[in-house]
Amino acid sequence: MGTAPQPGLHVVNHPLIQHKLTQMRRKETPSPTFRQLLTETSLLLAYEVTRELALDQVRVETPLVSMEAPQLVDVPVVVSILRAGNGLLEGVLQVLPEARVGHVGLYRDHETLEAVEYYCKFPPLADRMVILVDPMLATGNSATAALDRVKAESPAAIRFLCLLAAPEGVAAVHAAHPDVAVWTAAVDECLNEVGYILPGLGDAGDRIYGTT
Ligand code: URA
Repeated sequence: MGTAPQPGLHVVNHPLIQHKLTQMRRKETPSPTFRQLLTETSLLLAYEVTRELALDQVRVETPLVSMEAPQLVDVPVVVSILRAGNGLLEGVLQVLPEARVGHVGLYRDHETLEAVEYYCKFPPLADRMVILVDPMLATGNSATAALDRVKAESPAAIRFLCLLAAPEGVAAVHAAHPDVAVWTAAVDECLNEVGYILPGLGDAGDRIYGTT
């Protein structure tokens, strides 16, 4: 599947992530297991997406001596695209428990596949790094709309974190937001005629929450 190196696209092919993704793709994987696997995978993906965060040296007193030790300059803000983004949020917050969290609610109009906003609440984003999370980067319409919303708040940088991407979605995000790098566990083959990723894993929101 299309994983050739591409600027602004990071495919995290760690064996644990790939193994868990395969279990999530299986149609017989029940919702509680899917949710648990997604949390575990997002924790591992968060580790990669934060790999190059800036560190400062700060003085700390250990029980024995004083030393200069590294500390994050800034904790990124995590913004979840509702509702499926919350499935990724869980694991990301396990490695970034101090992160402040924003939500943007977008649904896909099933006729036009366009993103329609129904909710938006952000902590201050100006000059902060934002990690925008949504498990599925399909047409790129929701991602692009959410990125427009986030960018209006003047963040310092934005990274888009997903579980699965379609080539069409990556291209759409990079066309509209060339400065936003995408992190994903896999880039699948294509979209079907109703905008689902193939081979994919079905509707991520339904699989997380047991709806149909
Ligand atoms: N959203 C999903 O949940 N699954 C897809 O395949 C595409 C968009």
